[in-house]
Amino acid sequence: MKLLAPDNIAEIVPYPPGKPQDELEREYGITESIKLASNENPFGPSPKAVEAIRKMLTGLHRYPDGSSYYLTQAIAHWVDATPEQIVLGNGSNEVIEFLVKAFVQPGDEVITSHPSFLMYQKFVQIRGGRNTVINLRQFDHDLDAIVEATTKRTRLIFLDNPNNPCATLISRDKFMNFLKRLPETVIVVLDEAYIDFVDQEKRIDINSLIRDNVGIPAVVSLRTFSKAFGLAGLRVGFGIMHLDIASLLHRVRQPFNINLPAQIGALAALDDQEHYDRTMKLTKEGLVWLTEKVKALGCKAYSSHTNFFLIDVQGDATTLYESMLYKGVIVRSMKAYGFPNYIRITIGTNDENKRFIKALKDSLTELGYV
Ligand SMILES: Cc1ncc(COP(=O)(O)O)c(C=O)c1O
Repeated sequence: MKLLAPDNIAEIVPYPPGKPQDELEREYGITESIKLASNENPFGPSPKAVEAIRKMLTGLHRYPDGSSYYLTQAIAHWVDATPEQIVLGNGSNEVIEFLVKAFVQPGDEVITSHPSFLMYQKFVQIRGGRNTVINLRQFDHDLDAIVEATTKRTRLIFLDNPNNPCATLISRDKFMNFLKRLPETVIVVLDEAYIDFVDQEKRIDINSLIRDNVGIPAVVSLRTFSKAFGLAGLRVGFGIMHLDIASLLHRVRQPFNINLPAQIGALAALDDQEHYDRTMKLTKEGLVWLTEKVKALGCKAYSSHTNFFLIDVQGDATTLYESMLYKGVIVRSMKAYGFPNYIRITIGTNDENKRFIKALKDSLTELGYV
């Protein structure tokens, strides 16, 4: 066999998949582990979504509706946009892919921050585009440096807002100022995967930017059902954008990209205000509780606008991660992201939060960190 894969593909480092929880349990000889590593919703999926999916299972022999008509209508209503401004994806990941496919040609540039969500850069590599990577400044997107790095070949700028992993937020004023300094030819993609956790008055008004876009670049917002709605396993995300952009993205997507259970489940979840409100309330309470406890253990807890936060454990984060694994608590070491002493944890249920604090306390003592 002789493979002729292009260099840009061969050079891609695959997204680190993470082991299945069962496999980790076997490897570490533990049971009943808890996972606070992937910013999922610990309170489970919307019960209404589960029930709706259960009911539709006997219809699995049919193709789904290629336009996701009802789900698109419901999302448009929910975010106060028109259905033509919505593009659905197999997770918001897929909408990122559509944007890169539709706008980036080999040699074009895309600006991202480091650290931030890893997938932007991978899609750019697949397309043969060039990644311009700007380091965060003090945990925030460095908007000045991004403006300076923008060239005639820049097609897209990805900003995860809140940022993953730092949980920081761009203020409205700073964002407006940033937009005014960019050429109209770039598209600014605000990845708002965690925006549900952010207070309304701190959010950027996407709809008005899509409506009144004269003299400023186009803005696209990316949203997901994976976090606040607890449907990460179903894979549904969407983008809100000018209809001219949406029309281009529809040309690069497969006709049935949103599967049948996903369409039915997400639609039912949108109608489950109780589950959504409960998730918001318990997440906020959990964040306050965990922050206090982490500080009391002598670690630095960073403030957060979302359902996860960074902790400076004042010692090697990966050693601590391993030590906590043996106690059945799975967190994320931030060493590979350039923060050797930090872990990132997702807010869990009350019981999970308590187990996390107990395991953290024991591991810090065993390792002599604080
Ligand atoms: C910033 C950010 N964007 C996008 C995603 C992907 O979301 P989805 O599950 O909708 O593909 C994640 C997932 O962790 C994320 O952290």
